[in-house]
Amino acid sequence: MKTCLWALVGIWLIGLGSPQAWAQTPPLGGWVFEPSQAFPEFTKMVVTNRDGRLTGVITSQWYGDLPMLNLRIDQDRLIFMIDNGNPRLTKHDFVARLEGGDLVLTGRLWDDDIHATAHRAAPAALAALSFPTYPLPPPRPVADNGLARTPPMGWSSWNKFAEAIDDKTVRQIADALVATGLRDAGYVYVNIDDGWQGARDANGVLQPNAKFPDMKALADYLHARGLKLGLYSSPGPKSCAGYPGSYGHVEQDVKTWAGWGVDYLKYDLCSGEAFYHTADTVQAVYQQMGEALQATGRPILYSLCEYGRFDVGSWGRRVGGNLWRTTRDITDNYAAMSKIGFDTNGAPHNGGPGGWNDPDMLEVGNGGMTLEEYRTHMSLWALMAAPLLLGDDLRQVPPDILSLLSNRDVIAIDQDRLGRQGLPVQRSGDIEIWTRPLADGAVAVGLFNRSAQPKTVTVNWRDLGLGPHAELRDVWRGVDLDAASPGFKGEIPAHGVILLRVGGLTQALIRPLSIRANS
Ligand code: GLA
Repeated sequence: MKTCLWALVGIWLIGLGSPQAWAQTPPLGGWVFEPSQAFPEFTKMVVTNRDGRLTGVITSQWYGDLPMLNLRIDQDRLIFMIDNGNPRLTKHDFVARLEGGDLVLTGRLWDDDIHATAHRAAPAALAALSFPTYPLPPPRPVADNGLARTPPMGWSSWNKFAEAIDDKTVRQIADALVATGLRDAGYVYVNIDDGWQGARDANGVLQPNAKFPDMKALADYLHARGLKLGLYSSPGPKSCAGYPGSYGHVEQDVKTWAGWGVDYLKYDLCSGEAFYHTADTVQAVYQQMGEALQATGRPILYSLCEYGRFDVGSWGRRVGGNLWRTTRDITDNYAAMSKIGFDTNGAPHNGGPGGWNDPDMLEVGNGGMTLEEYRTHMSLWALMAAPLLLGDDLRQVPPDILSLLSNRDVIAIDQDRLGRQGLPVQRSGDIEIWTRPLADGAVAVGLFNRSAQPKTVTVNWRDLGLGPHAELRDVWRGVDLDAASPGFKGEIPAHGVILLRVGGLTQALIRPLSIRANS
């Protein structure tokens, strides 16, 4: 901190020199933004011109100190870009110009137009706004916590409720999990995603916001019903929706959560991407949380969410992760879901007991897809050994959606203890065939139709590397089929699926599947 202070004073002395410099256009010098600026809550900006070389740093409550890139002067305007570690964000120029004695900054971040006003500031005022940095641990493996031997199952608030989630709704969802039989089918985690966080108290202890009056009581309520509580945080100063993150408070936050009885943490990079934008730093910051969770002595399942960056599947387990997001956010439509499900989930060999590729939470029942499309969604997730985190409003779940979510045969495929992630083995036009080997020697086979028209599919078992078998079950229809036939023929609805379980195989006759990577 001290070094920082002196550096700032130095910049001030070299760059500004005299009050006359303040009058120069364009706006060089040190500036403090008006408080309560909206996202990204810029606090200060310091620009120096040393021998004709312009440099600058702009500081934000979300992203800390950001170098002002491609900084240039155009008449009375200062133009620059910022890089918060996210290529989608760094698209637009920022423009700073003087208006009266004030500095007016305009620009665009994500989908937000930024408009912020700043005033000239003396070194002490700038120094008071120094943004702290914290050390990261050296690389070392975090021991396996023994959880998630099969992919986690439960419910999460985000896909349906986003920030409009509260204690009462979570309790009602918990009751619905019990009443619908979904808990008994395996959906036990009740995860409150972004939007539960309140302010920190004088000691830095994070409080829930007013919508969650007593987190410990909520955990007790869930535990009494055989359910588990999940929470959400970020390694950055802000969560994706702008609530406080765990930056600088990792150990403290973990103690708080363990005290409440939390059983699951989703740790979402969000504003942390400005601080941790190399493979090493991202791994280190996730390891830091992995170690802190482990130090509580409480079994807390650890979900990494950094959108698949830096080949997370290859190191997620090492930092203590039980699942790691492999993709950007899912949305409730066939195009988005099928892109993730068919084309962009993580490398299959990374997933297995204790650590799973996470293609994101389910959208089943949220209304943006047909029943057949939701069936495809469930089938793909089951074949991929993906976590099954329900994302709909279970208080009013229609019978057809409920039966889709509760199908025991489909859940059994997802939860198969072998933990081998399924793969596409044939792609021909709009027809895609996936297989997943199961612990008892059976093989789950998904016949998918990616077109918007119904299609007839004909499969020869031998072409899939499957030998003679004694059992053949249509999993969604819940019927046993003729296992003696050399193949299968059926009509698949538009964007639909037929999911089969081929069992009682004569092992010796199984040829290795002709596996092709799915990303
Ligand atoms: C990110 C995550 C989502 C959700 C939101 C919450 O976008 O990827 O899954 O957690 O943040 O703000």
